[in-house]
Amino acid sequence: MTELTHPLATVPRDELVARAEADPHRPRFHFVSPAGWLNDPNGVSQWNGTYHLFYQYNPEGAFHHRILWGHATSPDLVNWTDQPVALEPSGGPDADGCWSGVLVDDGGTPTLVYSGRHDGSELPCVAVGTPDLLTWTKAPENPVIPAPPAGVDITAYRDHCVWREGSRWRQLVGSGIRGRGGTAFLYDSADLRHWDYIGPLFIGDAASGDTAATDWQGTMWECVDLFRAGHGTLGDRTLGDQGAADVLVFSAWHDGDTRHPLYWTGRYAGDSYTPRDLRRLDYGGRYFYAPQSFADESGRRVMFGWLQEGRTEAAMVEAGWSGVMSLPRVATLGAEADLAFAPVPEVESLRRDHVRVGPRTLSGREVLAGVCGNQLDLELDLELEPGSVFRLGVLSSGVPGPGFAEETVIEIGHGAGTGGFSQSYLRLDRSRTSLDLSVDADEKSGPVDLPGGRLHLRVLVDRSALEIFANGKPLTARAYPTLGGEAVSLSAAGTVRLLGLDAWRMEGVFSGPRPLFP
Ligand code: FRU
Repeated sequence: MTELTHPLATVPRDELVARAEADPHRPRFHFVSPAGWLNDPNGVSQWNGTYHLFYQYNPEGAFHHRILWGHATSPDLVNWTDQPVALEPSGGPDADGCWSGVLVDDGGTPTLVYSGRHDGSELPCVAVGTPDLLTWTKAPENPVIPAPPAGVDITAYRDHCVWREGSRWRQLVGSGIRGRGGTAFLYDSADLRHWDYIGPLFIGDAASGDTAATDWQGTMWECVDLFRAGHGTLGDRTLGDQGAADVLVFSAWHDGDTRHPLYWTGRYAGDSYTPRDLRRLDYGGRYFYAPQSFADESGRRVMFGWLQEGRTEAAMVEAGWSGVMSLPRVATLGAEADLAFAPVPEVESLRRDHVRVGPRTLSGREVLAGVCGNQLDLELDLELEPGSVFRLGVLSSGVPGPGFAEETVIEIGHGAGTGGFSQSYLRLDRSRTSLDLSVDADEKSGPVDLPGGRLHLRVLVDRSALEIFANGKPLTARAYPTLGGEAVSLSAAGTVRLLGLDAWRMEGVFSGPRPLFP
């Protein structure tokens, strides 16, 4: 038996994969690690046609420790092949972990910029890949930035966004200034090895808003990701404000607590960023954490995020695996200069056994005959009268009606401007999702626009992973029902017209056990 090295490594390594595969909560069409721990997406990219997904990985067990970079490739963002571990801690600046980072194309050479962890803090490191991106050599110059900016009292310092601007490289490193707020430090380089510090791109305000609020900025910004949405490219100064926004995505962190992903819209020009609006990226908060995006060869802005677990540390360790990668989603610029999201269309290749329901006016509650399962893609078009509420129940078991023993409810209300609720909203009610009282059951919600009362709702259920898109607004979360319920139900309060519901069972993407150390 392999030697166990960490107090939480209670499941023998050679048993981890079998445990993970046997877990009924393990998703089947989302990317998950072979077993053990997974967190952030890293180095997301398309290289000579092939998609690459690297990820924070601990094959020793389902806990965060001595992180490596796992690696998988895909021709279509749907079917993934495990590749050898890309980065592993070695002596020196990454002795305690290879933390998050990105992949860039350095004149034809695939190059990773990542956070090397050593002695409780992180510094920027570089590794260079072979043309197939399978073998990585760490740069002798590591760490390529020897220390955080001098004279600044920082909360933390890690994670990278790197891009080409003219003949120069630019880099952001996520951080926070104590007593002020989160920030991203901007650097400039000619060769990715030597960096000049420019200054904070701009500094957030941790004192603004309630620290418990779903849009609180936190005291440190993890995984900063700056990109141009709409026309043009980052740093292009010839364009006006029309039809474009420079989006700065970050994950708000405070004192070890991973809060939620947020984004600024604004304008990056020269060495500074002028923020306009701050918005929530995903209404599931911590369930879509540390997102990273890239422009693929067709020009789409594709984003992945980490779906954290909602069960206890002990339950994760016992299960032998932890962490789900979101389905890749395309980000586009919405009507309000906000981002709209939808899963990449390639995901539709997994659809099987199509069922169509409607059109009809909904009244009361009905369990759908012919639509059930825990691997589902549901697509609905609805029309809600002001003041009406629509509910979609999934993962339901027990007797139809209020007596469903377990049920996860997705609710959309059309704000009437008066009365109980004035703003249209999307809400996920997990209060009856699971009889297991140790799992997270917090409600998640956020505003949605329902122009003319119209709603396009997409719901992807993959066992414990749930991704919801309501008119482009995402809400991602986890659910751990104990009874294996697979029923789907519809209900309405007030006048709700179902224009159509399309449902499919979704095929899994992995067959057979996967090696822990590919
Ligand atoms: C975000 C994060 C990053 C860090 C990585 C470590 O979830 O904390 O800031 O680089 O995970 O695994």
